[in-house]
Amino acid sequence: MQSIEELIDNNVRWAEKMRKTDPDFFIRLAQQQNPKYFWIGCSDSRVPANQITGLPPGEVFVHRNVANVVQETDFNVLAVLQYAVDVLKVSNVIVCGHYGCGGVRAALENFRHGIIDNWLAPIRSLTRSHKDELAGLHEGAKLDRLCELNVLSQSRHVARTTIVEDAWERGQELAIHSWIYSLDQGILTPLRKPITSPSDIEAG
Ligand code: CO
Repeated sequence: MQSIEELIDNNVRWAEKMRKTDPDFFIRLAQQQNPKYFWIGCSDSRVPANQITGLPPGEVFVHRNVANVVQETDFNVLAVLQYAVDVLKVSNVIVCGHYGCGGVRAALENFRHGIIDNWLAPIRSLTRSHKDELAGLHEGAKLDRLCELNVLSQSRHVARTTIVEDAWERGQELAIHSWIYSLDQGILTPLRKPITSPSDIEAG
């Protein structure tokens, strides 16, 4: 593990390296951000949006929480989504989950973890609504499938927010992507076609 002081040293070296390849990089970024992508992902340290998509600072607006949950009652995600759609005018929202997600695993377990059980309630309800499909799978496959179902469910939630409905209504182009990341391969896989209009939501 690197010490906290090393992080600051790393930062100084990184900033120097960036300036060497592009002297105006930080000056330009300091003026404004103009990302075309908004990422909703898991807080898991192994799934950093910029690194796994090869995007430099300024290219992706990011919101992360445990198990990439999008709830219409969560002001945090709604505020970030509204800024991304209405102000930054991103053209792509990426909901990205990952296999082996600890949050999704906790939603499958029949014991108390603490406050997180409340946060994971939408995933626990997803487990109940896909009970039959999940019952036929062994433990690992069950977790993987629930990770996929969760991404699919959360991207539909994004599509049904008033923010996205209003954007489509006024003719703004916006595609919602449903991706899953495999920790052991480092690979992103789309789970369905992007949602680009209300009629796409259930079509997937
Ligand atoms: Co996770």
